[in-house]
Formats: sequence, C-alpha cells, structure tokens
Amino acid sequence: MGRAQKLGVLVSGTGTNLEAILAAAAEGRLASKVAVVISNKAGALALDRAEKAGVPTRVIPHGNYASREEFDRALVAALREAQVDWIVLAGFMRLITATMIDAFPNRIVNIHPSLLPAFPGVDAQKQAFDYGVTVSGCTVHLVDGGTDTGPVIAQRAVPVLDGDDAEELRKRILREEHSLLVEVLRAIEEDRVEVISVAGARTRVRVRPP
Ligand code: GRF
Repeated sequence: MGRAQKLGVLVSGTGTNLEAILAAAAEGRLASKVAVVISNKAGALALDRAEKAGVPTRVIPHGNYASREEFDRALVAALREAQVDWIVLAGFMRLITATMIDAFPNRIVNIHPSLLPAFPGVDAQKQAFDYGVTVSGCTVHLVDGGTDTGPVIAQRAVPVLDGDDAEELRKRILREEHSLLVEVLRAIEEDRVEVISVAGARTRVRVRPP
C-alpha cells in the first residue's frame, strides 16, 4: 500500500513534462500532487503552466548565488518549506550537488531523453541522431552526483525513422517521456520502487508490477 506524495518539480524551460504530471494529477491518474514548482529561470513557460494549475511557484535564479552549493541550499530550503516527499527534475538544466542529494537521499528523479548510459548531458536527442543510432528513447533515473549517471528506474525505446531529423526524433521521444514519467510517479506512490544497494555493486532499482 502506498500513499500520495507531495512533489517538488524543478524546471528551467517549457515544462511539458510538468504539464503531463499536472494533467495526470488533475484527472486522477496520479494521487500525488505537485506542491511547488521551482525554476532557476524567470519567465520559464513551465511557471505559467504551474500557475494555471494553481500550483505555487518559486523562481530561484542560479546566477544570484556564488556557488552551486549555495544555490542548492536555497533549493533545499524552498523544497523543505513546501514539505515535499519527492523531487522531479523535469527539464531542469542545472547540475545538483551533494547538498541536494544528501537532503533528499534516493528521492530525486530525473527524466532524460536518451537510453542511458548512451548520450548523457545536453542535446541527447541530437547526439543520438548525429551518431546514427536506429533506436533511442528516454530514461527516468534516481539522481546521484554525476551527470545522468544515477540508477535507472525505467526506460522506453523510441525508433529513429527514415526521414527523421533531430527535431522529429526529439518530439517522438518527448511524447514517451510524458507517459514514462507519470508511470514512474505512480509506481512511487504505490510503493513499488525498491532501491537495491549491495556492497561493491552498482545500486539498482527494481520496479514491481502493479
Ligand atoms: C525533456 O526532453 C527532458 O528529458 C530534458 O529536458 C526536456 C524538458 O522538456 N531533461 P519540458 O520542459 O518538460 O518540455
């Protein structure tokens, strides 16, 4: 038996993944609720989406802080104030530090537009397209100290089709991101996500079927 979680969603841009979470919550496909949306960029379209859904928003511009750690301390304070249980990085274009990870151990998920460990970092869809792979996809993973390196929770493959360009591939992957992210959040609230840590081995995540 699980329970609805209070989510803190961190964004930097368009916020279509945020929108997918908000829609799922509004339609009852998710019991969890978004308690706060935090953007490091003023004017991000994601903030408008949150406001339309009646979700509190905060802008915490990273440029106002002398270091990544100081910025992360401000994030932790805002997330604690909103009493969030889980944090979703949904197009949040900043690397987070141990300050955030230690404050919310194994409670931060990221959505990345490739089949990790292939194509980490920025422009993953263009990296995949330029490489010439015939399959790419998306990954939801727990966040650790590296760039897109944390334990994989769920992945979905997306084909690269004849005649695609990087933009077509980006759109096809994005559609799958939306459903994969909501599925993972549902698994979390249903307490089906198990972190398996064994000394000397990579930490893994197992998602039990519903
Ligand atoms: C998505 O492709 C996500 O995987 C990546 O950044 C993009 C954000 O899109 N990390 P949106 O802001 O959710 O529309």
